[in-house]
Amino acid sequence: MELFHLPLLVVPLSCALFVPASNQAALVDSHHHVEREKVPGDNPAYYTRGKAANQLFEIDEFTVSPNPVVSDHRVFFYLRGDTGTRDLPGLSNATLEIWAQQTSGEDKPEYTIKKKLSDFKPFTARNEDDYTYGGPLIKGSNEIVGDLWLIAWDPEGHRTVDLDIKAVARMPDDRVLFAFEASVSYEV
Ligand SMILES: *[C@@H]1O[C@H](CO)[C@@H](O)[C@H](O)[C@H]1NC(C)=O
Repeated sequence: MELFHLPLLVVPLSCALFVPASNQAALVDSHHHVEREKVPGDNPAYYTRGKAANQLFEIDEFTVSPNPVVSDHRVFFYLRGDTGTRDLPGLSNATLEIWAQQTSGEDKPEYTIKKKLSDFKPFTARNEDDYTYGGPLIKGSNEIVGDLWLIAWDPEGHRTVDLDIKAVARMPDDRVLFAFEASVSYEV
């Protein structure tokens, strides 16, 4: 029943289906870090895809609450960052890709979803000036907020779920806006 948890966890991320990631080799690369750079804020995330300084969207704060996550609880996300003064034509069509894999258990399924950021339902870009929700990302300061319920139920009984999660936001031309990964564990 290893497959069971991931869909339960990630279904709230989107109404769309997660598809098994067969061609995600590039995303898996970031596993072998010598020195990892922490994403600022109370969160379990580390930058991937190069240093923060090379990412177009500078993250000022990423808060995950509670951190560490607790199963059978709601987990809240708040991310604030800035594109600076750069002109980024196509920013409103930026995409977010989320990838998840269980690190424990016999089979280790991978799941990935990629959508236009403004099409993600449980996560939404919020304009800092007037708190309008729904995006899209704009030049300058942006907030992305969201939440999901962490379901804790396993028909096979109590155990620990270890999950590797990666997120990559990109411009339509594939330049990386921000990219980070996190390993989370929770009891079911
Ligand atoms: C976003 O994508 C749509 C559809 O491809 C396109 O018509 C539109 O011009 C794009 N917007 C920007 C700002 O590039």
